[in-house]
Amino acid sequence: MKRFSLLVNAQDITARISPEIYGHFSEHLGRCIYQGIYVGEDSPIPNTAGIRNDVVAAFKEINMPVLRWPGGCFADEYHWKDGIGPKSQRKHMINTNWGGVTEDNSFGTHEFMELCRQVGCEPYITGNVGSGTVREMSEWIEYMTFDGVSPMADLRRENGQEAPWKLKYFGVGNENWGCGGNMTAAEYSHVYRRYQSFCKNYPGNTLYKIACGANSGDLEWTETLMKTVRPDQMQGISLHYYAIPDWNKKGLAAEFDEDGYYTQLAAALYIGTLLDRHGEIMNRYDPECKIGLVVDEWGNWFDVEPGTNPGFLYQQNTMRDAIVAAITLNLFNRHSRRVVMANLAQTVNVLQAVLLTEGAELVKTPTFHVFDLFKAHQSADAVYCFSENELLAGEKKIPMLSSSASVKNGVLTMTLANCSMTEDAEVACDISRFDVSEASARLLTAPARAFNDFGKADAVVPKAHSVSLNGNSVTVSLPACSVAEITLK
Ligand code: AHR
Repeated sequence: MKRFSLLVNAQDITARISPEIYGHFSEHLGRCIYQGIYVGEDSPIPNTAGIRNDVVAAFKEINMPVLRWPGGCFADEYHWKDGIGPKSQRKHMINTNWGGVTEDNSFGTHEFMELCRQVGCEPYITGNVGSGTVREMSEWIEYMTFDGVSPMADLRRENGQEAPWKLKYFGVGNENWGCGGNMTAAEYSHVYRRYQSFCKNYPGNTLYKIACGANSGDLEWTETLMKTVRPDQMQGISLHYYAIPDWNKKGLAAEFDEDGYYTQLAAALYIGTLLDRHGEIMNRYDPECKIGLVVDEWGNWFDVEPGTNPGFLYQQNTMRDAIVAAITLNLFNRHSRRVVMANLAQTVNVLQAVLLTEGAELVKTPTFHVFDLFKAHQSADAVYCFSENELLAGEKKIPMLSSSASVKNGVLTMTLANCSMTEDAEVACDISRFDVSEASARLLTAPARAFNDFGKADAVVPKAHSVSLNGNSVTVSLPACSVAEITLK
């Protein structure tokens, strides 16, 4: 048992935590949209307008604030006009990035906006730069957000949507350094300036335009964008980072040894370094943090489960994923002055999914439960939180304890993770400048390789956990491989 002390100053506010940090991402990839989210109105699976009721209820449970769509790489080969109008007349296409399967476009703009309406989240749409035109992008925005008489607004009405939708977040391309067109930083920066000029703010709708940002540690990309694009031309820059220690030997999500566990945690922790490095560049051009860093793809990426389509990226999700999610979300909270949004890849049945489906069955993964434990941080003020620590796994130097704290409406929330695979911890939290009269906690814990499965959906679920309160000091025990939410009033 390791003992740590942790200090929180409830009035030392570092930044407001944007709720969108707890955002998600859904792409036309494998069984994410089709089967995972959308089953069609005629499906025997309970649905509303073709969208699974169980999935919507689960998204609401974690207060999903924002959902990114349609990709990913798919976004830069997606032509939005193929996905509107009568379904029987919608064009079919090949999803060249993800398994070469036929995309029937039955889930398009109207269906996505309906999904966001049912969930109560903000839509975040990524436009096509790689294979689309300026006109196509411009017309999509007109179609979605213009209220007057115009060719696109009239077309929207013909397709059954009278009022324009509200659309704030709009991405100008995805991974344009790779699948989105293989551009150089300089090339994309100029292309961005042109495309964004025609992304109009129609009356009553103001876009938050997000430029395609760097792949992981490509600092030059961020530097080039910051110096080439005027601050009034972009509100956010994205960053993509997947925790993949070795691209050629990803391994299976649920089969790993102690070394594999800590190697994965080390890869996940690297995102903290990336946030610092990209943040330092942005600080030089934008010291007031007017331009947000949008980590619109992050998560663990393993080999697909045996027997599944290699292009579908279906992987299991264990307590190791839960620890990675907790570490990452604590880091986002701690960087919330610059990080305004993050989107876990991907919601259902793809990569580090929060939900898995098999026919009518649905499983909430350990990662889902971490989002549930962390949801009180949304829109809260991040506050000073410092702990003693112990570095694990030799050279990998994994801090045993991960933490962050925030205050909202007189409630202080701390989220802690014991990242050790084997050793328990006890944390004595000293809370200053906040009168604690009540303390409660929820804990998610299980062996690192444990996961929820069909027919065994509740193997890993959070449970109420006892804490001891002594004046303004709260002591909590954290078993090996655990994540806790501690609520103080
Ligand atoms: O999330 C899977 C893929 O990873 C996305 O389509 C792409 O943007 C990234 O490379």
